[in-house]
This record gives sequence, structure tokens and C-alpha cells, in this order.
Amino acid sequence: MARSALLNVMVQAAIKAGKSLARDFGEVQNLQVSVKGPSDFVSQADLKAEKIVHDELMKARPTYGFLGEEGDEEKGTDGAHRWIVDPLDGTTNFLHGIPQFAVSIGLERHGEMVAGVIFNPATDELFTAEKGGGAFLNDRRIRVAARRVLSDCVIGCGVPHLGRGNHGKFLVELRHVMGEVAGVRRFGAAALDLAYVAAGRLDGFWETGLSPWDMAAGLILIREAGGFVSDFKGGNDMLADGSVAAGNELIHKQLLEVANRPIPTR
Ligand code: IPD
Ligand code: CA
Ligand code: CA
Repeated sequence: MARSALLNVMVQAAIKAGKSLARDFGEVQNLQVSVKGPSDFVSQADLKAEKIVHDELMKARPTYGFLGEEGDEEKGTDGAHRWIVDPLDGTTNFLHGIPQFAVSIGLERHGEMVAGVIFNPATDELFTAEKGGGAFLNDRRIRVAARRVLSDCVIGCGVPHLGRGNHGKFLVELRHVMGEVAGVRRFGAAALDLAYVAAGRLDGFWETGLSPWDMAAGLILIREAGGFVSDFKGGNDMLADGSVAAGNELIHKQLLEVANRPIPTR
């Protein structure tokens, strides 16, 4: 599989930041037993990872815009291109010593995602995709799962955190979805959840209340893996709306229909 120069830059940045996270993850596991806990240390690990990604990407393409979770947006003189980066997706997992977290880097061109890299250094899994070039896991081609009915499907979701999102609305969505599917999973790193849909591990996924960096790279991965992805209303406003639903063509459609069923009156 030949990667473009741009994708190579993204992969190098993700691996470099991932190595830094992996070193810090080892320390987090030691800090679990300390009285203070690892919170401050994790914030530093997060900032360090973003700086690594930022510096690598901006060294290679100094004119591009940069939107990362941990800093102010940089507009860039280019106008057409923007990096969208989550240096550590799955912070709560990382903080608790759970090896389900990732560096996520997306590249947007004229408002469309054209390349994505998601790297979990704890499992050494590198997901990559470029527009028109297919999606890959560690250089092996991946496709979305082919299941045709929800009752055979394992569906991922995101549960709104304490003090965030609409918990009541989520419980209604969950109630509807869990009544129709083989299983529901909440892994805790949206970027990886989307990568898992691309790899056919999850048959579908939905979440609301997300930020652009949680999903930018995942969107192109799913499309390049032959999947369908939309916002929660079926439109194309995922980054602005913060909602996402994904799967193969049939499952995506069924999931949207079921998760959007109205709130029962009693
Ligand atoms: C979070 C994770 C989580 C999702 C949250 C995100 P973070 O990102 O992706 O799975 O449910 O909405 O904020 O804070 O770990 O980068
Ligand atoms: Ca995130
Ligand atoms: Ca993050």
C-alpha cells in the first residue's frame, strides 16, 4: 500500500505522539495507587502529545490551519486545508489505566475530510485512510461489516459524561437501540469507536455531543471502508452538529430510524 507524502506526515506525527503517550501510560498505572491520583500528570501527557502532533504537522505544512482540542485554533494562510487533532481521545480510559485511547489526526480540504489517522499505542493499531485510497489497519485493507439486520449487530455508543449532554435523551435512544440489537458497547474513545466500525468490529455507532476532533479522522475511515456516516438527523453536518451515526448502508439507515424514535409518552 503506497501512502501519499501527506498521509506519511500524519502517520509519523501520530506514532511520535503515541510513543509519548505510551511512556506516560506506564507512569499512570503507577500513579493509580498514589493519594493524589494521576489527573495532573494526564493533563500534562495530553498537552505534550498535542505539541508533538502540532510541531510535526506544522513543520511539514506550515500554511495549513490547525484545530486541536488543547489549544486555540490557528487559521493558517492556506485557507483550504485544516488539521483537526485530538492528541488523546479516551482520556478517562487513559486516566484509569484502561488501554483504549488514541491519537486522532484528520485533514480537511475545502470543508471535506480527505485523510485520517487514528493510532492506539497501547495495542499498536494504526488506522489510516485517504480519499479514494481505501482504509487500512496496520497496512491491511479494512471494510465495514456486512450484516444486514440490526438483530445480528453489535452497536457502539457514547454515554454523556457527568454534567454534559442530555442524559434523559440518551437513555431513550439506548432503550430503543438495545431492544433491537444483539449487543451495545461503550468503549470510551469515539475516534477508536469509529475506526472499529471501519474495521467491521462494530456494526454501527452513534453518539451526540461530540467535538470535531473526536470524529474528523473517523469519518474518512468509515467512508473509505465502504461505510455510511451522517449526523443524527441523516445530514452531513457531523462536525458542526457534534452528532454521528455510522454503519454499512443498511445498518446506518436502520440505526438512525431506531435511535431517533420519539420519546414514549408513558
Ligand atoms: C471523549 C471520548 C468519549 C466520548 C466523549 C469525548 P476525550 O473524548 O471520545 O468516548 O464519549 O464525548 O469527549 O475527552 O477522551 O478526548
Ligand atoms: Ca476526544
Ligand atoms: Ca482529547
